[in-house]
Amino acid sequence: MTQIRKIGVIGAGNMGSGIAQKIAQEGIPVVLIDTQPAFVERGLANIAKTLQDAVQRKIIKPAQVDEVLGRIQATTDLEAVKDADLVIEAIFEDKTIKSELFKKLDRICSDKTILATNTSSFYVGEFAGQTARPDRFIGLHYFYHPAKNRLLEVIPHDGTSPETVETSLLVAKLHGKTAIVVKDQPGFAVNRFFVPFLNEAVRMLEEKVAGIATIEAGAKRAFNIGMGPFELMNVTGIPIAVHAATTLGNELGAFYAPAKALQAQLQMKKNWDLTGEIDESRIPAVTDRFYGVCLGVAAALVDEGVASIEDTDRGAKIGLRWSLGPFEIMNKIGIDKTYQSVKAISEKYPDFKMPQILANQKTLAKPFSFNFVDLTVKDGIAFITLNRPEAMNALNETVVGQLEVCFTQAQADPKAAAIVFQGAGKAFVAGADIRYFVEKIKANQISDIVDFTRNGHRLLLNIETAAKPTVALLDGLSMGGGSEFALACQSIVATPDGSMAFPETGIGIYPGLGGMLRLARQVGPELAKYYVFTGAALTAADMQALGIAARLCAATEVPATIHALLQEGLPDKYRQREIPPAFDSYRQIGRPDNIARLLSGKLPESVAEDVAAKTLKSVGFKAPLALKISNEIIDAQTGRPIPAAVEIELERLAEIFSSADALEGLSALGRRRPEFKGK
Ligand SMILES: NC(=O)c1ccc[n+]([C@@H]2O[C@H](COP(=O)([O-])OP(=O)(O)OC[C@H]3O[C@@H](n4cnc5c(N)ncnc54)[C@H](O)[C@@H]3O)[C@@H](O)[C@H]2O)c1
Repeated sequence: MTQIRKIGVIGAGNMGSGIAQKIAQEGIPVVLIDTQPAFVERGLANIAKTLQDAVQRKIIKPAQVDEVLGRIQATTDLEAVKDADLVIEAIFEDKTIKSELFKKLDRICSDKTILATNTSSFYVGEFAGQTARPDRFIGLHYFYHPAKNRLLEVIPHDGTSPETVETSLLVAKLHGKTAIVVKDQPGFAVNRFFVPFLNEAVRMLEEKVAGIATIEAGAKRAFNIGMGPFELMNVTGIPIAVHAATTLGNELGAFYAPAKALQAQLQMKKNWDLTGEIDESRIPAVTDRFYGVCLGVAAALVDEGVASIEDTDRGAKIGLRWSLGPFEIMNKIGIDKTYQSVKAISEKYPDFKMPQILANQKTLAKPFSFNFVDLTVKDGIAFITLNRPEAMNALNETVVGQLEVCFTQAQADPKAAAIVFQGAGKAFVAGADIRYFVEKIKANQISDIVDFTRNGHRLLLNIETAAKPTVALLDGLSMGGGSEFALACQSIVATPDGSMAFPETGIGIYPGLGGMLRLARQVGPELAKYYVFTGAALTAADMQALGIAARLCAATEVPATIHALLQEGLPDKYRQREIPPAFDSYRQIGRPDNIARLLSGKLPESVAEDVAAKTLKSVGFKAPLALKISNEIIDAQTGRPIPAAVEIELERLAEIFSSADALEGLSALGRRRPEFKGK
């Protein structure tokens, strides 16, 4: 399997320095190159400043600054990347300069090196053609600020090999990016509708549809964003907007070409004046125009096969921080309404045609549906990927339904001898969709929660008892329902980023998808109670030490490790095991007498004072009713067959979800510390 030992970044400007920073931050050695020592120094200084900001905002610890900087080798010598696994070009947006650079890199770099361009406006294929390694050439399009914005467009050109795509996706994952695979077409996915968003704002101004302040307000409301198009142009630079619209216009036609007023503003070398009154009466017209253009273009790019509807939405949400993606917006405002807005645009601009996908959806008279679970079969293994990274792959009715469909297909597929479940992006699965619970509680439909959970249990039992081996790949965090899902698989393979936690009692409920029973059955009820009472995370190393994870390996070793594990045969996850001494005090805390103490607000005994105090403090923030019921359930489940133990969990579900603490805990999540009343 590919090892990623060194990445080169060429160009230490705005993008290159941020890209290098992020790669180094995630533990990979980087070489950062520019043409002059002063430029390299400037890039390094930018990195140091961004890292200091991150320290101030408590995102990273002070010691990490030197660690990260220590992973960056800054130089003007291109030879320094000759043995890199990947070289990312982020120099001036100039075709000739970029082409020359790639010719040089092609000569210098070893055969294994993949070359990538971060170009925004040229075809990836064009630069690939300058090298003798078009199969090892790809587009990696980052978003500003590349150390902070998680989106990465991965752009294979026609000649990129599948291995290069695979390695690029691995690199994306290794440095914390959410990748979307996009065709080598003008504007790729996100700029294709983002640039017209900026341009149309100027056209509206030109046509006196409204003034700048009103257009700004209309855009903010339409897409639920913090900055409107004019402010964004002021921040990122009007030249970039003009350049991007010009390239799109040249490639795709007049509809995309820059508005005259935009070019005029560039000539004046002045920012837009954002002051002015908002004219509420003009907001609907403004919103309509934005919808017509942005949603229309999003539909057009999907029509052309540039990206999937899910990736297009992801691009908008992660890359542009829209609260909903274009297709989600279409569903929200209605397909008919969308169609009308896009129709108005297609009538106004003759070279913009109504996208077929939208016309079809109008005929179907129903909203778009989204695929959040993908199934691929590779080398005899079915990989089922929960692909909703923007929501940390949280489980809801749709996701569970699609998971079931993919699982059924994988079981029936003769080419798949085993089934591996994995999560896209940084997380495996962050639990269940909390909003769903809150909505159901408020609508007095708790029986729906019970049905949803019962369904989930049925699926998890099928995964646990499947004839084909089932493996959870925990290469990111999992919480609650996600950890319960992983525990239901016949085996777990973890990477150092993998973790497990049961935070439910902190939000007024208990782990309801078999987590308590499966954890207790593996490591004993005492430890299970400790983790459920405190919500403490089990690291990948903990999981390995406790035998919960069958294997712990580096992210680059995952495929080989899974194959080896399957070849050897999965160990019985419910085998008897020794619990390592490192977990002794946690087991003591889970003893019945100590649990009783904790439930009445007293310190647990027979453990070190600091551990006792820390545990009591942590348990003090949890919902008392949820703690009490969890304790009772774990006791009642002991010694019962799994299906019967599942029933015990289901029986108390209506009770816990009807409690005031459940509504308080679930509604407070992420906003404030809940105030539990014990009922
Ligand atoms: N700025 C953005 O928001 C953004 C977003 C996505 C992609 N991009 C693309 O990223 C690339 C870089 O953009 P930027 O904003 O960082 O530009 P920049 O001007 O800030 O930085 C470019 C750097 O490249 C260096 N450079 C130029 N020629 C070089 C060469 N031959 N060898 C080594 N270094 C060289 C320059 O000295 C400069 O430091 C462009 O292709 C741009 O289109 C930019």
